[in-house]
Amino acid sequence: MQNTSHAVMAQRHETADSPDDFPTPPWATRALIEHVVGPAGLTDLSCLEPACGRGYMSRPLMEYFGTVQSSDAHHYGYGPVRDFLRYPFEALSHDWVITNPPFRLAEEFVNRALTVARVGVAILARTVFLESAGRYEDIFLPSPPTKFAQFVERVPMVKGRLDRKASTATGYAWFVWEKQAMTTPRLMWVPPCRKSLERDADYVAS
Ligand SMILES: C[S@@+](CC[C@H](N)C(=O)[O-])C[C@H]1O[C@@H](n2cnc3c(N)ncnc32)[C@H](O)[C@@H]1O
Repeated sequence: MQNTSHAVMAQRHETADSPDDFPTPPWATRALIEHVVGPAGLTDLSCLEPACGRGYMSRPLMEYFGTVQSSDAHHYGYGPVRDFLRYPFEALSHDWVITNPPFRLAEEFVNRALTVARVGVAILARTVFLESAGRYEDIFLPSPPTKFAQFVERVPMVKGRLDRKASTATGYAWFVWEKQAMTTPRLMWVPPCRKSLERDADYVAS
């Protein structure tokens, strides 16, 4: 029998040409900084959010980084329109590249981000991104992440908007590459933090 529960139906199934427009709840980005990367010293650094959508990840990043540059291949009225995989961002031009990319292009985003970033790359992706022989050969074997940080809470994402009441059956994790510390990957967990990192203002329509 088909499982039509709301959580299962909320999984992301997009067509091949979809922009995969699923904004990230801002608390999940704060969780990256507070529990995975650490906020120390970030005010001196720059960050690129190259698939910014409506800016729901860029805004919390601006709470920590000295500068945040944002762009997206599609027009949402936030950053300029730039395809991250084609735009000539210079190698090592930004300290960090942080984003929640379209899932079908996540592998290409990681490889491009590792060229553009000087210090580190953080990619929010479904936990299952860790799987697949293709990604193993292309990313995880030649450039293993330094941290794999699994959310213990769910990170609900809804097409085209933020919905504080949404649920999801999909697990998410931060995949982090710290270029100056390339080492054996560290498995870690993003502890329960939604309550402490979520703000009412995050859900005010932008
Ligand atoms: C899952 S959404 C995330 C949006 C935003 N990063 C956030 O977390 O709220 C993926 C975004 O990738 C953008 N996108 C898709 N293909 C892209 C590309 N080739 N270059 C840049 N952005 C792209 C989509 O338009 C969409 O805004």
